[in-house]
Amino acid sequence: MENNKPQWSSHLSFIIATVGSAVGLGNIWRFPYIMGKNGGAIFLLTYLILIAFICIIPLICELAIGKIYRTDTINALKEINPKFKWFGWLCIATVILIPCFYFVVGGWILNYIWIFISNNLPANFSDYFTSYSSQIFMPCLLTLVFLVMTASFPYRGVNKGIEKANNIMMPLFALMLIVMAVYAVTLPGAKEGLEFMFRPDFTQFNKSMVLTALGQALFTLSIGMGTIITYGSYMKDDSHIVKSGYTLILFDTLIAVIAGIMIFPIVFSFGVAPSAGASLVFIALPEIFAKLPGSSIIGLLFFILLFFAAITSGISILETAILAFINNLKISRQKATLLVCIIVAAISLPATLSFGLLSGVQIANKTIFDLLDYLTSNILLPFNTLLICLLSGWCVNSLWKKIFGENIFGYTFNIILKFIVPVILICVLVSGL
Ligand code: TRP
Repeated sequence: MENNKPQWSSHLSFIIATVGSAVGLGNIWRFPYIMGKNGGAIFLLTYLILIAFICIIPLICELAIGKIYRTDTINALKEINPKFKWFGWLCIATVILIPCFYFVVGGWILNYIWIFISNNLPANFSDYFTSYSSQIFMPCLLTLVFLVMTASFPYRGVNKGIEKANNIMMPLFALMLIVMAVYAVTLPGAKEGLEFMFRPDFTQFNKSMVLTALGQALFTLSIGMGTIITYGSYMKDDSHIVKSGYTLILFDTLIAVIAGIMIFPIVFSFGVAPSAGASLVFIALPEIFAKLPGSSIIGLLFFILLFFAAITSGISILETAILAFINNLKISRQKATLLVCIIVAAISLPATLSFGLLSGVQIANKTIFDLLDYLTSNILLPFNTLLICLLSGWCVNSLWKKIFGENIFGYTFNIILKFIVPVILICVLVSGL
C-alpha cells in the first residue's frame, strides 16, 4: 500500500489541483453541448440550483472522507463499512468508463492543435468534423496518444510537474476564455445566444432534463467516483473542507458559464444548431478563429490550453483508478498504470469508431460513445453519489461533527445529508430514468 502519502505542498496547490481536476472538458465541451440539447436557460437554471444546494453536500463528504481516512476510494469505503467494498469497486468501474469517451475528445483536440499548427484550415468545419471523426486510423491513433500522454504523469508518480504547470496554465486559460467571451458578445448573433442561455423557457422543463442537469453537475465537479476522496486524502491538515468545497464550486461554475457565454453567441452568429451534440464546440469555435486576424495563432493557443485543461482532469481520473489498483491488487504503480491503460484503450477505441465504422452499433438508440457518456453521467454518478451520501450520513461516526463541530451548522448539515439530499437524489434518479 502507498503509505506515508505525499501531501500537497500548500493549501493553494491543493485548491489548484482540485480545480484542475474539476475544470476540464466537462466545462468547455460537455456543458455547452448538453445545455444546447436540453433547452438552454432552463437547463442552466436547474443546473445552478442543483450545484449550489445539492452537489455541495456530497462534495463536502468526499473531501471529508479523503481527509479522515487518507487512503484510496476502495479502502476508505471499506473502512467505513467492510460490507461496502463492492461499492468502492463500482466507483472504480465508473472511473474507468469515463476516460473511454473523455479521451476520444482529447484525441479530437490533438487533431485540432495539428490543423492550427499546420495552418491548414478547412473551409467548413461542420463537414470537416463529420468526415474526420468518421475516419478510422487518425482518430484512433490520437485517442491512444492522448491516453499515453495523460498516463505518463501518474506513471511517474503524482503531481510534481503538474502542480507547477497548473499554476501557470489554469489562470492563463481562464484569462483567454474571458477575452473570447467578451469578443463573442460583440458578434451579430450574440443577443440570440445570450437569450438562449439566460431566458428560461419553462415549457421545456421535464424530468429527464433534471437528471441530465444533475449528471452534468456531478461530472463537472468530479463527484461520484472517488476522485475527490483521492485528492482530499492528500489534503493538508489545516485545509478547511467547506471553504475548499465552495471555492471549487465557484471556480468550476464560473468557467462553465463563461464558456457558455463564449460559445452560444458564436453558435447563433454562424447558424450552428445548438443541439448539434458532442461535436458542437468543435464545429462552432473554429468558425470564429478562422475569421480572426492571426486566426491560426489564437486557435492554436486556445486548443493548447483546452488540451491542458483536459489533461489535468484526465490525470485525476486515471490517478483515482491507479491508486485503487496499487492498494487493492498489490501491484506497482507502473503495473497499475499499464493495466488501467489497457482497459481504457480496449473500450475507448470502439467509442472512437462509433462516429464512423461502428456508428450502426447502437443500444437503446445510442452509439457506444453516447452510451458511455449517458451511462456514467446519468446513471452511475448519481447512483454513486447517493450511496456516498447515505454512507457518510449513516455509517461514518458523526461526520458532521468532524467537519463543523457541535453547532447549528453541524446539526443542519447532518439533517440535510441524512434525509433531504438522499430523498431528492432518489426522486431525480427514479423520475429521470
Ligand atoms: N470534472 C472533469 C471535467 O469537468 C472530469 C472529471 C475528472 C470527472 N474527474 C472526474 C468526472 C470524476 C466525474 C468524476 O472535465
